[in-house]
Amino acid sequence: MRLLIRVAKEAQRKYFHRTSCYRFTSEGSTLRKGPVEECKWLCGSSQNILSAVREQVEVRQNFISEEEENALFKEVEKGLRKKRYEFDHWDDAIHGYRETERLQWGDVCESILRRVRAVAFPEGSPLLGPVHVLDLDKLGYIKPHIDSVKVCLLSTFSFYYYYLQYCHSTCLFSFQFCGSTIAGLSLLSDSVMRLVQENNSADWVDLLLNRRSLYILRDDARFKFTHEILKDEESFFSGQRVPRHRRISVICRNLPV
Ligand code: OGA
Ligand code: MN
Repeated sequence: MRLLIRVAKEAQRKYFHRTSCYRFTSEGSTLRKGPVEECKWLCGSSQNILSAVREQVEVRQNFISEEEENALFKEVEKGLRKKRYEFDHWDDAIHGYRETERLQWGDVCESILRRVRAVAFPEGSPLLGPVHVLDLDKLGYIKPHIDSVKVCLLSTFSFYYYYLQYCHSTCLFSFQFCGSTIAGLSLLSDSVMRLVQENNSADWVDLLLNRRSLYILRDDARFKFTHEILKDEESFFSGQRVPRHRRISVICRNLPV
């Protein structure tokens, strides 16, 4: 069985490498929003799928400066240093990672996060207070998954606890608690995020997440597509190799209205 899964995965990996990647073209696409340059970070399995997700995915290159990247790195490193990278849980959606959350930030980082929230979330949208920080080792990667944020009433019934469910929940009682939007800053490394339509895996798009860029996923791109961060040896964008080093993401989420 495991061998079968491995062979199927290998075939799918080769398929992604072989398949040509569609980009927005200057002619013929009535849905294209701006100059071609605007979408250099986006490619996919067909023009149709690009048009379908175009309103729901966004990458803003160079959203933060090198100094700002440094400030964020210094601040998150304090929380990360104490933890070890997790490699062992075969059923985790993330391989080779450590993570932390941060509610209070210094002035520089707070103003970066204000900028992120201003461009990513509708005005007045309730936000998840703590910012999620995910540190992927060079050998780490994120497998395809759909986020499901749950509020869990713990057995003590004494407090609510935000639980990010990747594969399964250990809580006694929980209910769906997803916001429409996720916004992530990428530090230290370029990477490729792949979105695959949940009910038709032939439909996919790749986002090139350059170091210091901000990505935003909204609505269907968040709930009807799985997302993943490719491992180093599979990290290609539109046929071009994108070496994956250690990568830290700083992720803001909103709550449902
Ligand atoms: C996650 C996730 C993406 C990223 O933590 O669920 O998909 O950019 N992270 O790190
Ligand atoms: Mn996720």
